[in-house]
Parts: sequence; structure tokens; C-alpha cells
Amino acid sequence: MSSLLKFEGIHAYYGAAHILHGIDLEVERGERVALIGRNGVGKTTIANSLLGIAQIKAGTISVNQTPIKRPRPYIATSLGVAIVPQGRCIIANLSVEENLVLGSAANRAGPWTVSAIYKLFPILQERAHTPGTALSGGQQQMLAIGRALMANPDLIILDEPTEGLAPVIIDQLADIFNHVADQGAALLLIEQNLSLVARVARRYYAVEKGSVVAQGTIDPDDISGLRTHIAA
Ligand SMILES: Nc1ncnc2c1ncn2[C@@H]1O[C@H](COP(=O)(O)OP(=O)(O)OP(=O)(O)O)[C@@H](O)[C@H]1O
Ligand SMILES: [Mg+2]
Repeated sequence: MSSLLKFEGIHAYYGAAHILHGIDLEVERGERVALIGRNGVGKTTIANSLLGIAQIKAGTISVNQTPIKRPRPYIATSLGVAIVPQGRCIIANLSVEENLVLGSAANRAGPWTVSAIYKLFPILQERAHTPGTALSGGQQQMLAIGRALMANPDLIILDEPTEGLAPVIIDQLADIFNHVADQGAALLLIEQNLSLVARVARRYYAVEKGSVVAQGTIDPDDISGLRTHIAA
């Protein structure tokens, strides 16, 4: 196995606010890993550390076994890690197709092209020339996922991708995540929806107050032990 993403002893800050207190985590090629935890524990800050949005004051992040001295979004993407940000971040002035094409800036080869994304999400093709922000919430999430796939990542980090979506859409996305993983990408799924976690992930990390407090394999038939780590 080879390591796609490795956090070793990461301490991360926003200004003077110390948010992550020595995070260790690792995702290997082809893995499906969940990152769970209540609101405000630092899940997004883990992704933001990789993007350079939160400042790292101690520890090392390695992407595809390359230590990153000064994290930046384009560095993560060009080394094979794409992020679907919490809240989607669809660019309002760009069409659906233009939003998708943005994702290919790192110019990495692989199975994911505009036509492959349209096959995965036919609704995006139907709405290719409308503004990205004119889509419904579920469709915007599909666009954000498609845009990340356009980087042909080895690992895709999904930050609460089902937040605010209807159960029928969540169901559809679970199948999509499994399909994407079957095509070869590893997944790091930041989620509070445990039934989705059970359907997609094989292993988990649980975060509390900026630290990993539990980790292990997931038994999809018994996720009761994970409930203590998410909001009631
Ligand atoms: N830009 C920022 N500046 C200062 N503090 C921040 C900033 N963004 C987040 N925080 C704080 O950092 C802590 C961790 O936030 P983070 O967004 O990582 O949590 P989270 O686990 O992703 O929560 P959620 O489930 O609500 O998305 C919180 O206390 C939050 O208020
Ligand atoms: Mg978050």
C-alpha cells in the first residue's frame, strides 16, 4: 500500500486560535475512510490545513509521500488530492460547464473528462450552460463532486457532501461515491450521517476538540459504537 495523505502531529491555527492539537491520520491508495465528529470539532480545519487556509505551526502533511512545506490548493491538486469543500463553493458567474472545467486546471490524465462527468450526472449536461448557482442544492453538490473529479485525483476529500440534502439525493450520492471509489480513487468522507458512512467507508477516524479520539474499522451492520462521536 502507498500513502496518499498523511498527517503527522499537525497543530493548526486560525490567527491565535489553536484548533488542531496534534492530528495523526493516513489514507492509503484505494481506501475509503470516514472522518466523523460533531459540529466545530475541527473536521473542516483538517481539510483547510491541506489548502493553506489554516496555518500549520507544528507537524507534517505529506501528499502522495511528498512532504508539503507550504500547503496551497494547487499543490494538493497537482499531487493528486482534490477537495469537495463544505458548502460546495460553486462559482456564481460561471456556467455549469465552466465550473467543471475549472477542476481540470492541474491537467492530470485519467478517466474523468467532461463527458464522463455528464454520464455520471446527466442533469449537469442538461444544464451545462446555466449559471452554476442556478442549480438546486443537490445538483450543486453533483457539480462540486464533478469539478473535483475533473482533477483525476488519487484521493478525493468530501466535506459533509450530504449536508442539507433530501434523503433520495443522499441515496443517489452514496452510489456515486462507491462508483467513484470503484474507479480507483480513494475517499476521505467527512460526514455526520452514519448510515452513509456505513454504506461507503471501511475505516474511520473520530475527532473531538481538534484531536483524533478514536479510530478503527467499520462494521456496516453495527455502527452503534460510532454514535457517541456525532451530534445527537
Ligand atoms: N476562519 C476561521 N477563523 C477562526 N476560527 C475558525 C475559522 N473557521 C473555523 N473556526 C473555528 O474552528 C473550530 C473548528 O471549526 P471547523 O470548521 O473545522 O469544524 P467542523 O468540525 O468542520 O464543524 P462543522 O461540522 O460545523 O462543519 C470552530 O471552533 C470554529 O468556530
Ligand atoms: Mg466543517
